[in-house]
Amino acid sequence: MSDVRPETMERITNAALANAFIEEQVKAIREQVGDKKVLLALSGGVDSSVVAALLIKAIGKQLTCVHVNHGLLRKGEPEQVIEVFRNQMDANLVYVDATDRFLDQLAGVADPETKRKIIGKIFIDVFVEEARKLDGIEFLAQGTIYPDILESKGVKAHHNVGGLPEDLQFELVEPVKLLYKDEVRVVGEALGLPHGMVYRQPFPGPGLGVRCTGAITRDRLSALREADAIVREEIGKLEELPWQYFAVIPDLQSTGIKDGKRYMGWPVIVRAITTVDAVTAKSVILPTETLLTIRDRIVAEVPGVNRVLWDYSDKPVSTIEWE
Ligand code: XMP
Repeated sequence: MSDVRPETMERITNAALANAFIEEQVKAIREQVGDKKVLLALSGGVDSSVVAALLIKAIGKQLTCVHVNHGLLRKGEPEQVIEVFRNQMDANLVYVDATDRFLDQLAGVADPETKRKIIGKIFIDVFVEEARKLDGIEFLAQGTIYPDILESKGVKAHHNVGGLPEDLQFELVEPVKLLYKDEVRVVGEALGLPHGMVYRQPFPGPGLGVRCTGAITRDRLSALREADAIVREEIGKLEELPWQYFAVIPDLQSTGIKDGKRYMGWPVIVRAITTVDAVTAKSVILPTETLLTIRDRIVAEVPGVNRVLWDYSDKPVSTIEWE
């Protein structure tokens, strides 16, 4: 498949067009792969999930999906990947819980870019180790989408490091590489993936690692995961969803008071933004009720947190993430 989207290619906007695309790709994948085996790093994000579902439909167990849990995923994510792909779609899914490996190597590391590099490097190491355990893999499937091709110097490429070693090069299978994100979502729904998975907000590769600022500790990370789940649940009830909405826990303590005694805890920062391309972004002015519910739930439900802040800064001058 060429890397250029033909001008005549119709935008996939409905189930009928998605089904036609799926049929065409299933055929193309079968032709490309034959009876050979394919490997896919399945993050649980929209793009890799749609590629997984397409390949499962086309070649079933010839596909092996590897889901690496780096310990920086959001609440419920690894469980959903296992439920959807192993239990419901009967895929060959290798689940690697590498939490300790990531968190041990990140201990004491405060610099954001060093954290990203460590996360990227261990991710590749774990994936390569799993790939080497498998016999006869000849293809690597990837969730490349058209904006990745158009903006190969864009946000994703800029933030994410990595690549496979030279002795482990496979022919690529990239069935959605000519699609825009909205089309990938329509195809995902037509493939029967859960709505929440297909329409989920973008989530950075280093995950909660860049939202637990400074040196990550397990207790602060666990508080972040709980607070983030509350933020997503409450903002998720709004009629119009922001592009990204999440919690951050900065690497500092704040004073709280309980039973008349002062103690040190953490503040949680709530952030919600809209954007079209993540290059600039506007803060979403959240309804008062939502802010109050989030505040009350977080301090009541998340141990160690005694303060809730709302970050309503725009990009520029702030970036979307805190580091
Ligand atoms: P910033 O913070 O630069 O973020 O305004 C722009 C967009 O990029 C996402 N982001 C990342 N995505 N790996 C990723 O895959 C990363 O390291 C990374 N850092 C930021 C961010 O969530 C936002 O959508």
